[in-house]
Amino acid sequence: MDGAGTHGAGTDDPGTEGRPGSPRLVRRKTVLRAALAATAAIPVALAGGPALARTFAAGGTAPQLTPACDDGDDPTPEQMEGPYFKPRSPQRTSLLEPGMPGTRLTVTGYVFGRACRPLAGVLLDFWQADDNGAYDNTGYRLRGHQFTDSRGSFALTTIVPGLYPGRTRHLHVKLQAPGRPVLTTQLYFPNEPRNTTDTLFDPRLLMTVRDAGGGREAAFDFVLDVPQDPGPGPTPTPPGGTWAAGVTYRAGDRATYAGRGYLCLQPHTSQPGWEPPAVPALWRAE
Ligand SMILES: [Fe+2]
Repeated sequence: MDGAGTHGAGTDDPGTEGRPGSPRLVRRKTVLRAALAATAAIPVALAGGPALARTFAAGGTAPQLTPACDDGDDPTPEQMEGPYFKPRSPQRTSLLEPGMPGTRLTVTGYVFGRACRPLAGVLLDFWQADDNGAYDNTGYRLRGHQFTDSRGSFALTTIVPGLYPGRTRHLHVKLQAPGRPVLTTQLYFPNEPRNTTDTLFDPRLLMTVRDAGGGREAAFDFVLDVPQDPGPGPTPTPPGGTWAAGVTYRAGDRATYAGRGYLCLQPHTSQPGWEPPAVPALWRAE
């Protein structure tokens, strides 16, 4: 393709940035994702996740904190920019162009601050290789920026980036919350053979990816080093609400499950598998 540059071996040269994964980060993401999926428009890629229902606080602009989401979570790791970033990319959520070869890919997720609250208006600038592993360095093919919406969510439509020498499969992205420093990083695909040999690869930057409709659907949530008011914290489900996992219940709370009412006997934070009929120590049918 005219004007397209290709990485040679040694570009984006893997350095010392590969670091071990963080189980805590993975767990936090899972909870956050479920929390927002229960209240925001649910990205398709996330719809199959655990149903840790939370509700938006009064005003409807921010989710309540989950118990696992108020401990100063680690920000998303930085990674090198590489040689092919170009400023002034077009604003667009789809990088697809007519006739563009490659496997269709959607990437959806949220951007959070340090208190796990979603960040609106965050700039995300994506760039990537094409199906052949080439970057467009004269134009803006497969480059574009967008902003998170009021719920901190983003959605990118593109193709699966091709492989090029020296690197595993990846997307490049820069993020910037209003008035904050830029975070430059990369996102990775699970089950890629080169993940084990690319020393830049960081498992904390793995997307959740699944096949869907002949393409692939990926999800990833970013955490930026943006101070936030931690907010009021979890609140119990109002009496009579539908039972959900990830909710802090107090003794005496009531909830319905499968059409039946239950009384909470012990304070606890609900989890999948702790549905009221399964845990008589926690819930009594009424
Ligand atoms: Fe690259």
